[in-house]
Amino acid sequence: MAEIILPPKDFKKKAVIQDETFYEQGQDIETFWAERAKMLKWDQKWDQVLMRDPPYYKWFLNGKINASVNCLDRWITPGDKDKIAYIWEGEMGEVRKYTYEELYTEVNKFSNVLKNLGVKKGDIVSIYMPVIPELPIAMLACARIGAPHSVVFAGFSAESLRDRMEDAESKFLITVDGYYRRGKVLKHKQKSDEAVDKLDVSKVVVVKRGGNDITMVPNRDYWWHDLMAEADEYCTPEEIDSEDLLFLMYTSGTTGKPKGVMHSTGGYLTGVLTTMKWVFDLRDDDIYWCTADIGWITGHSYMVYGPLVAHSTSILYEGSPDYPSPARWWEIIEKYKVTILYTAPTAIRMFMRWGAQWLEKHNLKSLRLLGSVGEPINPEAWLWYYRHVGNNACPIVDTWWMTETGMQMITPLPGILPLKPGSATRPFPGVAVEIRGPSGALPPGEKGDLVITQPWPSMLRGLYKAPEKYKEEYWGKYGPEAFFTGDGAIMDQDNYLWLLGRIGDVLNVAGHRLGTAEVESALVDYPLVTEAAVVGIPDEIKGQVPFAYVSLAAGVEPSDDLKDKLMKHVSKIIGPTARPKDILFSDDLPKTRSGKIMRRVLRNLATKEEIGDITTLSNPEIVQVIRERLDKKA
Ligand code: WT7
Repeated sequence: MAEIILPPKDFKKKAVIQDETFYEQGQDIETFWAERAKMLKWDQKWDQVLMRDPPYYKWFLNGKINASVNCLDRWITPGDKDKIAYIWEGEMGEVRKYTYEELYTEVNKFSNVLKNLGVKKGDIVSIYMPVIPELPIAMLACARIGAPHSVVFAGFSAESLRDRMEDAESKFLITVDGYYRRGKVLKHKQKSDEAVDKLDVSKVVVVKRGGNDITMVPNRDYWWHDLMAEADEYCTPEEIDSEDLLFLMYTSGTTGKPKGVMHSTGGYLTGVLTTMKWVFDLRDDDIYWCTADIGWITGHSYMVYGPLVAHSTSILYEGSPDYPSPARWWEIIEKYKVTILYTAPTAIRMFMRWGAQWLEKHNLKSLRLLGSVGEPINPEAWLWYYRHVGNNACPIVDTWWMTETGMQMITPLPGILPLKPGSATRPFPGVAVEIRGPSGALPPGEKGDLVITQPWPSMLRGLYKAPEKYKEEYWGKYGPEAFFTGDGAIMDQDNYLWLLGRIGDVLNVAGHRLGTAEVESALVDYPLVTEAAVVGIPDEIKGQVPFAYVSLAAGVEPSDDLKDKLMKHVSKIIGPTARPKDILFSDDLPKTRSGKIMRRVLRNLATKEEIGDITTLSNPEIVQVIRERLDKKA
């Protein structure tokens, strides 16, 4: 029986959303979402809420709405303009604060810069920047003039940037000279040049951040500060249709070649605003911190559009969590009295590994709500987060969603739902999901595919220039009216959802379905284990069996005895079918720059197959280390 954690009484009493009838109201999706859309500033109201042409859906048809106006102009009133929008902290400790009015001015100026460079409505502008204030400024300026942005995570390689710019036929790039990571200046402009030099790119704008030596190409490259010094302070916002493209976000799919997920304007803003307020229980005096990178969908929705459209104050932090020490995050929380922290399970497990002593010296009492996103959070990490970060007093919202959904989809409403560590609980009001198997919807207790059965306003509108792939990838398996997420899940007797990871990570062991995430959770449940990744390997008799990679707490030595104990522990928690065939101990696991363990690489290493593309790994060197250890075993 899973433990149940009730929202603290005081929290519940003051919660923004206490009304459970929203869950019922959400069943009529059109009325529910139209009501929410009214929170935005529309230049022209829609004349139809939803158009279904499966698998294509449109929201708020013929409505006119500008995202930059909703994030900024509407707050330029005597009462609202002086509120801090962003508190930015650089890795080296510099601090910059922007009020809504200041941000508004910068965005207006940069909109004019873009126009002066020849950017027109509909042109796709690529942005390749670390988390510095100029990044959201550039995004909002694009939105203001109707030029969709395509932000490429700064940690990605030059090839990744080139591929994405090529696919988007993007002629404009905004980048930086360099930026800080663990005290060093990374030569970012050089990387940008490697991508751009081989493309037909007309203009590059460079923010001065690292101060490192760079090459500027005449008539192509311009300093941000030079252009801004000459720009007019006001730019009339373009008239934007609700369905106009707001941005592209490239994400890897099943095949490895990244796809440009298309997000449009009116529905997207409706989804992120509603979840921002309801899921984070957002109040006017909150200091909100999402630790993601703006280069991911999490950053787009919950560091830029969500927070600004909700008129909140957010922290932006440029650097590493362990620079100059693993206390950095806790110092930031104490210094700015952060009230809401939104982070990822992988970060939490990293902090578990470093030890609670790094937190204990800091006053984290300002925190009142914690969030998790990106992968299933194992109950052990959940409880550690709850206890050591939240002091047993902050509800945790485990938010399930994906690049394609634009907004949080399965998540608690923290003032209403009792929490179960490890469960993302229920669909957000206005969101409908089912657990499906080949013969249809499955009852509670049965594992299946997570499918979204009704359209939602911030849903992707397609894959850029890849309509066939869009149909096949998301609307192929269960038809054009059921969005296939690619995730496995199970619903318990209380209708709570437990996410089991990507389907590719769901095993079939002797006819039993088994999520690799379940085995990982059991392993991490063992006190000395800090991180585990489980993959399926073929087995003659059982079809597939789990194979585990395990990282141990600092100072713990791997041994056969420990391996045996772990195997028994998994058998005990899940059952003998879940017992890994073998365990490989490794200090580090291959991870993407967003911190996701790349299980595909681990699976192929274990099965001795081609490992494929590893350009998105943050630590590619680990691949060879693991390969050698596996070879030694064999
Ligand atoms: C995949 C989407 C959503 C922003 C970051 C990731 C996994 C995400 C959770 C969660 C279990 C989760 C899913 C999903 N995922 N959040 N709370 N619990 N799994 O965006 O890169 O598009 O990845 O992340 O497997 O399909 P993404």
